[in-house]
Amino acid sequence: MIILVVGSGGREHALCWAIAKSPKCNKLFCAPGNAGISQVADCIDIAAEDLTRIVTFSKKENVDLVVIGPEGALVDGLADELIANGIKAFGPSKIAAHLEGSKAFMKDFFTKYNIPTAAYGRFTDHEKATAYVKKNGTPIVIKASGLAGGKGVILCDNDEQAIQALQDIMKDRVFGDAGEEVVIEEFLKGEEVSFFALVDGITVAPLASAQDHKAVHDGDKGPNTGGMGAYSPAPVVTDLLAKEIMVKIIEPTMKGMISEGRPYTGVLFAGLMITEDGPKVLEYNVRFGDPECQVLMARLNSDVVDAFDAVACGQLNNVKLSWLKQAALIVVMASKGYPGPFEKGTKIRNLSQVDAIDDVTVFHAGTKSLDNQLVANGGRVLGVTALGNTIQEAQSRAYKAVDKIDWPNGFCRRDIGWRAITREPN
Ligand code: AMP
Ligand code: GLY
Repeated sequence: MIILVVGSGGREHALCWAIAKSPKCNKLFCAPGNAGISQVADCIDIAAEDLTRIVTFSKKENVDLVVIGPEGALVDGLADELIANGIKAFGPSKIAAHLEGSKAFMKDFFTKYNIPTAAYGRFTDHEKATAYVKKNGTPIVIKASGLAGGKGVILCDNDEQAIQALQDIMKDRVFGDAGEEVVIEEFLKGEEVSFFALVDGITVAPLASAQDHKAVHDGDKGPNTGGMGAYSPAPVVTDLLAKEIMVKIIEPTMKGMISEGRPYTGVLFAGLMITEDGPKVLEYNVRFGDPECQVLMARLNSDVVDAFDAVACGQLNNVKLSWLKQAALIVVMASKGYPGPFEKGTKIRNLSQVDAIDDVTVFHAGTKSLDNQLVANGGRVLGVTALGNTIQEAQSRAYKAVDKIDWPNGFCRRDIGWRAITREPN
């Protein structure tokens, strides 16, 4: 098969890495890719948002299957355009991707189909939103309804912060149109988990469990990022809990999407809070998580092309996924300053030494090659991923590799996996 992966992050590097290993893949392209991806795929200079050129390219190169990484292209309808041109797509249609594109739609959907989630109100009127906050008190969570690059969620500990958040989003429009409507939610306490399932419209196949670390600093302190590290499996997700999540959350969601005339295909990513009252959905994403995808691909022991193709063809019932028994853990290395402003173009050395270590893979996120030298080209830059018999073993292998990388302008958290390690038997 001729396959095109759309995107340029660590997630897409992991997808390309897994796809390139499949005997079913004769030719692999990535649009636009990055320096790491160019080692396993032919990178083409087309932005992930440039739907027209992606379709034209796919037709010209006789691409059989397009694997779409980022949500933006999905919400804009890339899968629909490809399918209309006779090209198979791994990823939901535009109307199904609305699940991530509008938090207000998502919350109403949960209520309609009785899916456990935080209590909420949705508002376009600033005064009514303020009154809701005053009535319900803090802590409370305020979210811009539209896509805000992962930044549209504000956790408010006190009334002042909540009032300021409403001012910022609704009056000062810091998230632009994404903040035209806000969702205000009950603050849920518990442990967060990322739960993924492949869906072909009807059949739903859960993937291995994973957990990420959103906060920038050790001890889960500091502002939220796209994710500073992750591991799989997540010990908090016992077989029993995974079953409960499927029965109470994922399956009713997929049935609900069919009833709404929005059948879902692709990968569904549920951000869950495991509360005292059981699992509740914080949000859905219509794509793989980044960096969760990297640890899932590191552990996947089945042919990923078979799985993605089956999803695109509505034949997922023929696929059985298997996973390595080993755990995988990824440490994200980011440019100093991230998630705030950071410098681009700083030099990264010694990666070839790390690539030579067994059971360690470095997935590139924001890198590029400049005059034959690898340089940083984004906030999150590298994802050092290791396998181990336990999460602790994977962690120590990953940090040994991190310490070999010579990148003075980079930083990482030093405690990725702490929560899982406290649960592992000694
Ligand atoms: P979201 O983009 O909706 O997943 O929100 C980003 C992060 O904010 C989540 O990963 C949680 O850590 C946190 N969060 C979102 N909603 C809530 C909530 N209702 N209660 C507690 N934390 C939340
Ligand atoms: N790591 C969380 C996300 O991709 O949204």
